[in-house]
Amino acid sequence: MKQNEEKVVIAADHAGYELKEHVKAYLTRIGIGFEDMSAPQLDPSDDYPVFGFKAAKAIADGSFKQGILICGTGIGISIAANRYRGVRAALCISPDTARMAREHNNANVLVLGGRTTAPQMAEKIIDAWLDGNFAGGRHSRRVDLLDKPPGV
Ligand code: RB5
Repeated sequence: MKQNEEKVVIAADHAGYELKEHVKAYLTRIGIGFEDMSAPQLDPSDDYPVFGFKAAKAIADGSFKQGILICGTGIGISIAANRYRGVRAALCISPDTARMAREHNNANVLVLGGRTTAPQMAEKIIDAWLDGNFAGGRHSRRVDLLDKPPGV
């Protein structure tokens, strides 16, 4: 399947809904396309694994190159997304962690906490992640090892 390099896949649960809407407006402002795989409207009973899996699957199957996921803390949706081989979802709390997630971990999914990260900070984190580049070298060996957990 052809990767959609232009677009970022996005997904959030109810706790990430508000920040996700802000992120969509921000991406539009900076000219980055996206596809939103969240529920069509705010539903306080929805479950973060459903949306984490949906977006992570779209990356694992090659439909998208990268994604942004949001739940309340960013923790649950990270755990869900990282169950897919080839998905490297990194919960980032600052521009520095986002830059490192790209440089060292080649993170193809940025995760934000809707209840823990303010909208203006989220914009700065997104900028750092989008601008970041994988450093390669010794980090390639380590990133390759992530897909080879012993005994699995
Ligand atoms: C939902 O209340 C909350 O548990 C979820 O968004 C997330 O923070 C889980 O890790």
